[in-house]
Order: sequence, then structure tokens, then C-alpha cells
Amino acid sequence: MSFLFSSPSIAMSMDEFQLIRDFVYHYCGLNFSEDSKYLLEKRLAKRLQHLQLESFRDYYYYLRYNKDKDQELTELIDLLTTNETYFFREDFQLKTLTEEILPEIVRQKEKDKDRRIRIWSAGCSSGEEPYTIAMLLLDNPLLADFQVDIIGTDISQRVLQLARKGVYGTSSFRATPPGYQERFFAAADGKFRVNDRVRNLVTVSHLNLFDAPRVALLGRMDIIFCRNVIIYFDMAAKKKVVDSFFQRLRPGGFLLLGHSESLMNITNVFTLRHFTHDMVYQRPHQLPFEGGGA
Ligand SMILES: C[S@@+](CC[C@H](N)C(=O)[O-])C[C@H]1O[C@@H](n2cnc3c(N)ncnc32)[C@H](O)[C@@H]1O
Repeated sequence: MSFLFSSPSIAMSMDEFQLIRDFVYHYCGLNFSEDSKYLLEKRLAKRLQHLQLESFRDYYYYLRYNKDKDQELTELIDLLTTNETYFFREDFQLKTLTEEILPEIVRQKEKDKDRRIRIWSAGCSSGEEPYTIAMLLLDNPLLADFQVDIIGTDISQRVLQLARKGVYGTSSFRATPPGYQERFFAAADGKFRVNDRVRNLVTVSHLNLFDAPRVALLGRMDIIFCRNVIIYFDMAAKKKVVDSFFQRLRPGGFLLLGHSESLMNITNVFTLRHFTHDMVYQRPHQLPFEGGGA
């Protein structure tokens, strides 16, 4: 048997696992239990090999102190994030968006004489989620007079590159209702490229949800989608991120989580709204201590 093309793998000690796990947790909230030691060891082995490092402890020091540490952090995050996504994921929630949430927002905006709607897809992966929102909004006559901005952000540079390219294979379309692919995409070498009408509504940028000063720069949102992202965080990290969403939402704004996610035991500052097809969190229009009393 030849070892020419396979390098002997390097084992990760429990100390090394804890160093790297804590480093990742403090950087971006991703939480790896001790059961994940083997997974980390396996996923990061190719980085050790590439950087010609002899141990995971060396890799940890590289991440902390090497002059190329920022570049390596990008590689690390690309290897550790789960980026699964597709167009029109969780259709009952999207129905709630178009049939109930948007009409309510439009009514409020008309009262406020505000013609701008801002939607944030936090943890947008390769872009299917913000582009789905864009397709739904382009279809909506209620929004004809509105300026709509959809901001997609993610921590992984690799998936953001895909989002910017906007070219997708068939698996991204597995839940797409009939007609959308034909109307909003053009065929491109066996794949499908999202058209400019959709693309022009969406801005894609790099953002770590734990980078509080940069999150604050986003300004106020009417709706935040953060679906299937906080599932990978522990309680303390979930709380931090959800508190920052509360700050980013304008009063009355909505937070849409994934179907398996809830704010139970995390925070009670949001109101849970029961719509026809789904339940959605809303930042109250007025906080209890802001009451209009004398
Ligand atoms: C499973 S995907 C969800 C994609 C999309 N929201 C959906 O539901 O289809 C989770 C995304 O969250 C991103 N993510 C994880 N931790 C993050 C963090 N700290 N800051 C920003 N994005 C993060 C990952 O890179 C990944 O692309």
C-alpha cells in the first residue's frame, strides 16, 4: 500500500480541541460539543497539511498570531459552517410574509408616510433566501410605490461568492413553485442565473453576527429573516444575537426564525404573533417603559 497520496493524519488532543473550540465560539458563536472532536479533527486536518503544521496546537497559534491569520480564519469558517439552503424554503412562512406581514407593514408605512422597506436575511448562505424574498416582493402590487432593500449577510466568504455570482444548480430549485424559474432566471451552462430585476433588490455582504459594531451599522430593519442559523449557537450566544436583532428592528418590525427555532428560554422581549399559516416574532410597537402616560 502506498502512502504517497495520503498523509498520515494528526490526532487532536482534548486540550487542543478545547483551545480551538473556545476560539471558534468566541469569534462567531458556533458551538462544538466534545462529541464533535473527531469532526473538527477531520475537517481541519487538510488545513494542517496545507500549512505544513505538525499539531493542532500549532494551528491554534497560527490562528491567533500568524500574519496571515485573517485569511486562515476565512478558511476555518468555510470549513466549519453548515450552509444548506434552497429557494422557497419554508413556504408557509413565506405565505405569511406576503399575505399578512407585508400588508400590515405597508398600512403602517402609509400612515407614517414612509416609502422604504428594509429586509435583512441574516445568515443568507449562497443567496437563495434573499433572492426568494426578492422574487416574492417583485410580484407584489402593494409594493409598487416602495423602495425595497434586501440585505443578505453571512460569515462565510465562500457562500457569499456564490450569492454574488447568482448561478444555481437544480438542487437549489427543489421547492420552487412552478413559473418562478422561467420568470426570474436565465439558463447558463446547465445551470440557472438569477436575472437583474431580482439581483438589483439584493445587496450581499460579509458580516459576523457577533461583530456588534458592524451589526449596529446596518441601521433599522422592517423584517429580519434569520432561519436555521442560531440553531448552531448555545443559549448565551443565541441571546446575544437575538438581542442585537431586537435593536436592529424598528418598533413593530418582524423576526422570522427557522421552523425548528424558538425564543423560548432566550428572551421575552418579542411578541409572538399568530398568523394564519405561521407564528412570527414581532418587536412591540411600544416598550412597556415607553408608555404614553403623563
Ligand atoms: C444553514 S445556513 C441557513 C441559510 C438560510 N438562512 C436558510 O435558512 O436557508 C446557516 C448560515 O449561517 C451562517 N452563519 C453561521 N454563523 C454565523 C455568524 N456568526 N455570523 C453570520 N453568519 C453565520 C453560515 O455561514 C451559514 O451560511
